[in-house]
Amino acid sequence: MKRTFLGYGRQEVDDADIAAVIDTLKSDFLTQGPAVERFESALAERVGARHAVAVANGTAALHVACLAAGIGPRDLALVPTMTFVATANAPVYCGATMRLADIDTGSRSLAPATVERFIAENPETKAVLPVHFAGLASGSPEIRNAATNRIVIEDGCHALGGEYEDGQPIGGCAYSDMTVFSFHPVKPITTGEGGAVTTNDDAFAHRLRMFRNHGIERDPDRWISDEGSNEAPSPWFYEQQALGFNYRMTDIQAALGLSQISKLDAFRARRLEIAQYYDARLGKLDNVDIPQADPKERARSGLHLYQLDIDFDALGRTRTQVMADLKKAGIGTQVHYIPVHRQPFYKSYGKFEVRDFPVAERHYAGTLSIPLFPSMTDEDAEFVVETFTDLLS
Ligand SMILES: Cc1ncc(COP(=O)(O)O)c(C=O)c1O
Repeated sequence: MKRTFLGYGRQEVDDADIAAVIDTLKSDFLTQGPAVERFESALAERVGARHAVAVANGTAALHVACLAAGIGPRDLALVPTMTFVATANAPVYCGATMRLADIDTGSRSLAPATVERFIAENPETKAVLPVHFAGLASGSPEIRNAATNRIVIEDGCHALGGEYEDGQPIGGCAYSDMTVFSFHPVKPITTGEGGAVTTNDDAFAHRLRMFRNHGIERDPDRWISDEGSNEAPSPWFYEQQALGFNYRMTDIQAALGLSQISKLDAFRARRLEIAQYYDARLGKLDNVDIPQADPKERARSGLHLYQLDIDFDALGRTRTQVMADLKKAGIGTQVHYIPVHRQPFYKSYGKFEVRDFPVAERHYAGTLSIPLFPSMTDEDAEFVVETFTDLLS
């Protein structure tokens, strides 16, 4: 039987998901409506936050989180260089100055000491955006302390379903002002495209909702203009009070999300089984290290990615050659990530120097993400292990 190609990540969509979407297509609401509200409630409840605000994608979620926090021109924000460019772009969209930090060797995320040092040197810092890399939250209470009264926006796009060190769910904002999620198909749950911000702060939640909808305020009690006071309570009236966007999630996406979130724990349990199997088998290979493989970290990670650190020099083969051979064998791999400081836009934006990011550079040189998604069978996982064993021996 011909084996289907195994990508590094893949959505799992079943008949219940499809039925939920079809029901919505037959309903009165296609764009933001009651399904979005239900999805927001389910997400807020799952992560233990007071509010969840759903938006069009994770990038929009990062952008509205920065806007809600009041990040603007003359503000300074700190972002780790080992992330998808969207994390770095968000404060830049707001006109702020964005600085990149190197990562910690173990967690591959921002180290609390880095945050502490940066803030000591730049007390005017407005916000810190830690990334739960590959799904693992690390040093969250320490980063909260180091940031003191600055805004902390967690990029939890890899981490839905994961936990902080103390067992509280990521997204409950125990150590942050807001947490951002993505529901892109390779992420822990999907809505096609989609994203959300969770927060325990009523004012941030209000601003998030306003910024996702053009900066429009419909509540007469919050109108600020004379015209608004004169028009209350006219049912057609609204005020645009800030420069917002159309970042709304559709009810079609939310119906899928609502169905998916009921399976989040099962998805994560299956990801964990596969990751533990890989840890046991791939950890023994020469020229390979496995980051974030501590069993306690595995057990609380959102497990978006499974990564290997391969010493390609010692292996005598380039990453390009290895990826091509794996592709021929039917195995998709990916590199997460090209560090942000290497991107041409950011090279000219921040005058970043490669030598300032030695840990991220080491990670970038050897990293390879291999297939990890809930619908992988035991045979799929065994096939990945055997192919890697042949290829890397
Ligand atoms: C760490 C991180 N942040 C932000 C995003 C942006 O999410 P989206 O693709 O939903 O816009 C991604 C998506 O790949 C991501 O991996």
